[in-house]
Amino acid sequence: MTVHFIGAGPGAADLITVRGARLLASCPVCLYAGSIVPKELLAHCPADARLVDTAPLSLDEIELEYAAAHRAGHDVARLHSGDLSVWSAVAEQIRRLEKLGIPYTMTPGVPSFAAAAAALGRELTIPEVAQSLVLTRVSGRASKMPERERLSAFGATGATLAIHLAIHALDQVVEELTPFYGADCPVAVVVRASWPDEKIIRGTLADIAGKLAADPAERTALILVGSSLGAQDFRESSLYDAYYQRRFRGREG
Ligand SMILES: C[S@@+](CC[C@H](N)C(=O)[O-])C[C@H]1O[C@@H](n2cnc3c(N)ncnc32)[C@H](O)[C@@H]1O
Repeated sequence: MTVHFIGAGPGAADLITVRGARLLASCPVCLYAGSIVPKELLAHCPADARLVDTAPLSLDEIELEYAAAHRAGHDVARLHSGDLSVWSAVAEQIRRLEKLGIPYTMTPGVPSFAAAAAALGRELTIPEVAQSLVLTRVSGRASKMPERERLSAFGATGATLAIHLAIHALDQVVEELTPFYGADCPVAVVVRASWPDEKIIRGTLADIAGKLAADPAERTALILVGSSLGAQDFRESSLYDAYYQRRFRGREG
């Protein structure tokens, strides 16, 4: 018996991996975070699968589900939104599984920042403009930010920022980042990227708060900040230049 953690992707039901869908089809039990995982994904599960929405459950209750499936010898598919490697609460579940001696696997999913970039039609790393992407958040009820991981500290690098779980704190984001990026720095708020009701609000650090006040967003939203979002006049990367192709293509790319 194994617990298979599966990244469900950002929302669109066809953005789960082939491996994730196959695992769903093979498990007689599926635990899913009903508040954020698209229900269409459950169509991959066997018709008689036990489907458990974990939204109202405590971690202790989720552990009881794992233990019961373990006793029954039933594999479990455990769906989490986006990818598992960021803000999925997988770490504490794995710690409990290891204590119980229950094996597990992890299957990655499309993270929300990638879906947001796709919705915008943008690459987030642009030659000589921004070559780093910081996935971060602001302090919230579920957990506090470590003291040194301040937005201003990341902002000092000029990297593209993908700020999660922060739509309620947009004013704070603008205030902390404006000294580093300038008021005219492009910002995009992508709401429910890849869902049928996806919404994009584009602006700058100067006007994004006003635009959002006029068109309020629900919580499943990502704030992207950085020059990469508006860059037009940038140097092409050498990946496709003829000299580079002769010397290096085939070795990396
Ligand atoms: C608990 S975190 C989960 C992150 C997820 N594991 C991932 O890989 O993106 C939830 C936050 O991710 C962001 N998010 C998740 N899905 C999203 C989507 N479809 N569109 C925009 N933001 C999304 C929002 O900032 C939301 O508050």
